[in-house]
Formats: sequence, structure tokens, C-alpha cells
Amino acid sequence: MCVNPAHRYTRVAIVLHWLMAALILGNIVLIWVVERLPEAHIRLAIDTHKSVGILVLGLFALRLLWRLGHRPPASPAGMGAIEQRLAQAGHVLFYVLIFAMPFSGWLHDSAWRSAAEFPMRLFGLFEWPRIGWIMAMEPFQKQQLHHLFGEVHEWLANIFYVLFALHVLAALKHQCVDHQPQFKRMWF
Ligand code: HEM
Repeated sequence: MCVNPAHRYTRVAIVLHWLMAALILGNIVLIWVVERLPEAHIRLAIDTHKSVGILVLGLFALRLLWRLGHRPPASPAGMGAIEQRLAQAGHVLFYVLIFAMPFSGWLHDSAWRSAAEFPMRLFGLFEWPRIGWIMAMEPFQKQQLHHLFGEVHEWLANIFYVLFALHVLAALKHQCVDHQPQFKRMWF
């Protein structure tokens, strides 16, 4: 089935969508397997997780700017008002999570007691700053924040898993049950 170009996302939005999806999912898999890696590879894996997360934060800023200047295509014909509202709410929650997941990771890492001894290098290329006011805190306070931000980081990821599953199920429903070319709206 062909898609009217007015019902398709822009090329930039499509590239950012798939690139960010791959980076976020890859980053989650990386942190899931980290404990099974040989000791010598763990530091590199965690450093890569941090770098990919910061890259996602940068791409999020680009995506948001692009979105502010380009309206998304109209909802597929035949989509009910409630479904449209749910889809919009899901997209807003995705934006919130895609910002909050890496940002909470950055806060968590900035509160790490050994942060000063182990500067963060973005993909090993150059030093990426930690958040100064957190690093300057008293060790006990910092330890508490480290724990808190770690919990927040984990919980945001848990919410993301649920939203991601709903997103995939909704896309499959439109594609397979409603026979709407949903996938093609977000493909080249
Ligand atoms: C795409 C963005 C990101 C996603 C989806 C993500 C996801 C996750 C997940 C699922 C965990 C495991 C939580 C748990 O079960 O305990 C985790 C841990 C962690 N994340 Fe992230 N994260 C992201 C970005 C970042 C960033 C930007 C940083 C720091 C600059 C960071 C630092 C950490 C650290 C230090 C841990 C704990 C690793 C360990 O010691 O095992 N994350 N992250």
C-alpha cells in the first residue's frame, strides 16, 4: 500500500527516530550484559554506556528542535479520537523519558564518589564535564544523591520498557489488524 507523502514523517525525523532507537536499545542491552563480561572489559563497557547516553541526549536536543519546526503528519485515516489522544500522550512520554534517562544517568555519574579520579571521556576522544555543583558536595550527601539518582535512572528505564512494548504493539495493531501502512510512515 502506498503512503501519501503528507502522511509520512520527514527524512530527518525518520533518521533520528531509527538512530536513537538503535542507540537506546543498544545501550540498554550493553548495561544488561555488563555483569557477564570479563572483569577487564567492564570499565570500557560502562564508559561506552555513558558516552552513548550523552550522544542520545545531544540527538534528543536535535530531535526536539526539528519537531518544533516541523509538524508531524496527520494521524492515519480511521484512527479514533481516543486512540489519537493515547498515541499523542505516548509520544510526549517518550520525549520526557528520552531526556530524563540520560540526564539522570549523568546526575548519577556526577555524584559518584570516585568521579574526580576517573574523568569521563566521550568515546575516549575528549573529557566530558560532570555536573559541578554535585561534585562539590559533601561526600555523605553525594553518596545519598548517587543512590537516589541511580534508583531514578533504573525506574525511568523500567517505565521505558513498558512504553516501548506498548509502542510496538500499537504499531503492529495498526499495521496488521487495521491494515494501515503505519510502518511506512516512519520509513524511507
Ligand atoms: C540512552 C540513555 C540511557 C539509557 C537508556 C540508560 C539505561 C540504563 C539502565 C537500564 C541501567 C541499569 C539500571 C539498573 O538496573 O540498575 C543503567 C545503569 C547505569 N547508567 Fe545508564 N542509561 C542511559 C544513559 C546514561 C548516561 C548518560 C550515563 C552517565 C553519563 C549513565 C550512567 C549509568 C551508570 C553509571 C549505571 C550503573 C552501571 C553499573 O555500575 O552497573 N547512563 N543505565
